[in-house]
Order: sequence, then structure tokens, then C-alpha cells
Amino acid sequence: MQIMTENKKTSLTGIKPTNLPHIGNYLGAIRPALRMAGEYKTLYFIADYHALTSIHDAAKMRQHVHDVAASWLACGLDPNETILFRQSDIPEVFELAWVFACLFNVGHLERSHAYKDAIAKGAEANVGLFNYPLLMAADIVLYGTDEVPVGKDQQQHIEIARDVATRLNHRFGEGTVVVPKARITEAPLVPGTDGQKMSKSLGNTIPLFDPPKRLRKAVMGIKTSSEDLEAPKEPKGSTVFELYQLIASPGDTDVLAEKLRAGGYGWGHAKGDLYEALEAEIAPMREKFEDLRNEADVLDDILDSGAAKARVIANRTMRRVRDAIGISPARHGGKKTVRIK
Ligand code: TRP
Repeated sequence: MQIMTENKKTSLTGIKPTNLPHIGNYLGAIRPALRMAGEYKTLYFIADYHALTSIHDAAKMRQHVHDVAASWLACGLDPNETILFRQSDIPEVFELAWVFACLFNVGHLERSHAYKDAIAKGAEANVGLFNYPLLMAADIVLYGTDEVPVGKDQQQHIEIARDVATRLNHRFGEGTVVVPKARITEAPLVPGTDGQKMSKSLGNTIPLFDPPKRLRKAVMGIKTSSEDLEAPKEPKGSTVFELYQLIASPGDTDVLAEKLRAGGYGWGHAKGDLYEALEAEIAPMREKFEDLRNEADVLDDILDSGAAKARVIANRTMRRVRDAIGISPARHGGKKTVRIK
């Protein structure tokens, strides 16, 4: 096992357990994050306590956590080569979040985009939502993370994590914690059926784990231009081709581009090709997902063993932090003996 041995950089991915992933999540986030596993020491965690800012239903929470674990495992996450765990299994994260809260200005949090957007959209302004960036900073710093692969929407959160980690080091000793960096994923922008970015809120998604019929229906519903069958067609810029490019081999991609440019090949044909390519990649994952989804014990075992590994790293960080800030020094120094009579 590579985890504790080599001096690879650490990368950490947080996954909010909300909806089942769609093709956009898979191609844009899951697949690129899983591809980091060889190069980095990788941790993936299910951010259940972050989800609590909006999910207030225990059954839903349980289901989402299992679904998300099953999804990532089905997409190829190898729990022996990486660490997959639940955020809530390592409560030390709240300890660090508190330390950060004491070093961070209210005004900074008030300016956080995610918070402002959520409020603008009418979300309940609970304190959890307000503190979200500090809990996220603690997630990242607790595991000695060097790099966090994120999309642009999370960039500000990573800046906050860098900021508090830097403050802590300045105030209490350089090297106390690792200052993380964002790694803005060169993840492709995945277009949805209407050509805009694929997103649940736009209703333009192509499902990942739905039965083949539904997949085909979504693919056939992709908007295209309305040239004649005979007309030569420009593949670049068309949603069908852009998606095909993300899923098919470079060789097959060239073949489809040539067929379209030559004319006599309709968008309907191209959609058929896209469906075949998607189905070839997805079918084995779908099967694995269906198997795993109902195996709560198997999933919990995997998450438990991930937590055991994550805890070792978290404890190391917290020992350094507690020492640095002067909290609980006797707990690990072993020098003072306290007698209780
Ligand atoms: N905020 C992230 C999102 O909405 C989820 C998340 C929580 C996260 N903690 C994290 C991501 C730590 C990366 C690192 O997608």
C-alpha cells in the first residue's frame, strides 16, 4: 500500500452528499479527481456535516451518504489505494474549526460568496452556513493537505483555508500546519443537453446511473443545429461532439469528426455514437453501483476503515496544533502526572 510511505503530496477532495451524480459530475469532477490517485496521496471524504446546513432529514442524510460512497466506488475509487471516509467520523475537525474561528474575522465570512449567494437564493441563514468556510478550512488543514482539486466556485473557500492556516502559523509557529493550495481542475466544462453547463438546477442533465433507456432518451434530447442529413457539419462547438470527445478515444473522436465534416451523417447518427460510447463506459459502473447501493454494511465497513486511517493523520495535526496554542499540553507530553484523590 502506498499511503503512508512515499513522500507524495497530499490531495483532498470533499464530496457533499446531495444528489446522485450525473454525467457532468462524473466527467467534470469525479473522473478527474480519481485520476489524481496515482500521483498524489489522496483522501476523499463525504462532507456530511456540511450537508447538514441544508439537509434536515435523517433518512435522507443516511441514504445520500451511502449513495455518494457507492457512486465514487462504482466510478473506480479504490479504497485500498486511497482513503475514503466520512467527515463526521473524525470530530477533531470541529476542534480545529474552533481554533480557526478564533483567528478569523466575522467580516471576512460575511463577504464569502457562497454564503451571500445562498442568502440571495433564500436559503435559511443558519450559523452552520455562515461557518461553512471555516469547517471546510479545518477539513483541509486537518489532513495536512497540500492541494485541493476544486472548480472555480470553490476557489474563495480555499483562499480562506490558506488565510487561516497562514495566520495560525504566523501567530503560533511556522510549520504548525500545512498551508494548502487550490488546484483548479483543468476539468472540462461539460455541456448539458441544451449546450449550457450541465447542472441539475438547469434541468439539462444526462443521468449517470439511470437505466440505459433513460440514458438514451437524454442523449437523443440533446439540442443540435438543424442541417440536412446531407450537409457537411462542423463538429467543434456542437454539444454532441464535445461530449463524445470527453468519453471516446482520440481515434474514435477523429473518426466521428470526419464523418460529420464529410456530410451524409446526421446529428441523430452522432447521438447514436455518443450513446454507445457512454453506455460502454457506464454499464459496468452502473452494475457496481446497483450492487453496492444496497450493501449498507459493506459501505460502512469501507468508510470505517478509511476513518481509521484518516484519524491517524488528524491526531498528528491536532497534537501539533494543541501544543502550539497551549491547550492540553499534559495530554501528550507525559511529563505531568495528575493524581486524583
Ligand atoms: N464545499 C464543497 C462543495 O460544495 C465540499 C467540501 C467540504 C470540500 N469540505 C471540503 C471540498 C474540503 C474540498 C475540500 O463542493
